[in-house]
Amino acid sequence: MQTQAASARGAQAPLASRVGGRRAEGGRRHTSVNPAHTGEVVAEVLLAEPATFVAACRAARDAQPGWAATPAPVRGRAVKHLGRLVEENREALARLVTREIGKPLAESRGEVQEIVDTCDFFLGEGRRLYGQTVPSEMPAKQLFTFRQPVGVAAVVTAGNFPVAVPSWYLVPALLCGNAVVWKPAECAPAVAEALAQLCWHAGLPDGVLNLVQADGETTFAGLEAAMDAGLLDKVGFTGSTAVGRRIGELCGRFLQSPCLELGGKNPLVVMPDADLDLAVEGALFSGFGTAGQRCTSLGTVIAHEAVHDEFLARFAAAVEAARVGDPFRDVLYGPMIDRRFLDRFLGWLELVRPHHRLHGSTGTGRVTAANPRAGFVGDPSDGLYCHPTIVDGVTAGDELYRTETFGPIVGVATCASLEEAVALANGHGYGLSAAIYTRDPATAFRFREGVAAGMVSVNNSTSGAEAHLPFGGNGRSGNGSRQSGIWVLDQFTRWQALNWDYAGRLQKAQMDVADVEADAGFRL
Ligand code: UN1
Repeated sequence: MQTQAASARGAQAPLASRVGGRRAEGGRRHTSVNPAHTGEVVAEVLLAEPATFVAACRAARDAQPGWAATPAPVRGRAVKHLGRLVEENREALARLVTREIGKPLAESRGEVQEIVDTCDFFLGEGRRLYGQTVPSEMPAKQLFTFRQPVGVAAVVTAGNFPVAVPSWYLVPALLCGNAVVWKPAECAPAVAEALAQLCWHAGLPDGVLNLVQADGETTFAGLEAAMDAGLLDKVGFTGSTAVGRRIGELCGRFLQSPCLELGGKNPLVVMPDADLDLAVEGALFSGFGTAGQRCTSLGTVIAHEAVHDEFLARFAAAVEAARVGDPFRDVLYGPMIDRRFLDRFLGWLELVRPHHRLHGSTGTGRVTAANPRAGFVGDPSDGLYCHPTIVDGVTAGDELYRTETFGPIVGVATCASLEEAVALANGHGYGLSAAIYTRDPATAFRFREGVAAGMVSVNNSTSGAEAHLPFGGNGRSGNGSRQSGIWVLDQFTRWQALNWDYAGRLQKAQMDVADVEADAGFRL
């Protein structure tokens, strides 16, 4: 793979953006390090200027009509090849993900599998991409619908799922006949280069997928300039609510609706009839897997007062016993993704107040020799590791209750009824993912109906969405757009309605329409 060749060249040839099939030289040099060993350089990369972003959109604009003219089943072949290439390179890609962002290897393998699942779903969509035939209200006239590609899509993704989440955008966008400019996270440039190389080797013509390695502000300036120049038709963004708002505002100015996948403060409700061990398992995985750095990570457990103490005791014991450390070994979680994530997390820990009670570890904050974690796996000294923290006694008045805390921290609140649980589950305004543990179907359905989240789990955790169900949120978690499965097709295509009249005379809708006589006065 070229990526390996590129990294072997090391400092002489940093990674760079690729526009219209050509390497884009120039830009600021940035170093990506292994968060488990910050002295180890994973890649050097040139971060592009806004002009490169605009040039990428122009290259995409030029390439898009040819790609759209390629029959959808043929475009599906590229998706098929991508899926197979990812399978063949599965282990190398998963190991690179673990090395560059510190996700435990088992999770990285799962993340790579999610690309394969996405490709498996969409390669068949190339042979469907159905439109409809619709009856007309007039004779000698036919109505049809067609899915048209949107045009050029910019895809801006985060570092916590550096390959799976990009594939949720890239694969359907390309399958639908769009050209794409992909701006990956700055903390995962080597992973991004690897996935882009796999895409290019799957048979995409030059310019159909462009990679722009850039920082956030440059990207925003590039988005604005490209929209001003009429070079961009759609933005897909996964990241924070604050940046999502800015992107939403920008797109609104150009009458565009972006696909926004933003933060969450995902609740997990434990009812009195719950299987408590199952609930603990779910809370452990969704609260602390990926070091709590998923958008679907558990924010607050809402435990019914009848089981709160017992749940908390079992949860605290499980978190205390969990293996934290070297992501290449068998651990629940490894380091924070990069220094920025670590610093933000340490800031959020300051939201803990005197009325809160802490559980889960032998310390809080960064794991160091002076602040050790009992049972730590490996050497924490040059890694960006944090203790897991359970904060009991969270109430709706706490800032911690309504702030997304991207890291290994889980709040525990108490409720006295399902109604109160639903109110707490919704009260912060996020609406991405929510879970409930109960054995009662009526409780589960009442929760589903009342909760604002776009994704709901019963007796499973807030994380672990399957790749072919609609993924996305409401309120502070997004603008209602959905990724994955058939639902994402509405993001990357526009419906076009076709009226075809072969009557040979003008037939006016609503006016030249026959009716049937009814005996409206009839009564039994
Ligand atoms: C994200 O955190 O942006 O459901 C995506 C999950 C994963 C995807 C998370 N399959 O946790």
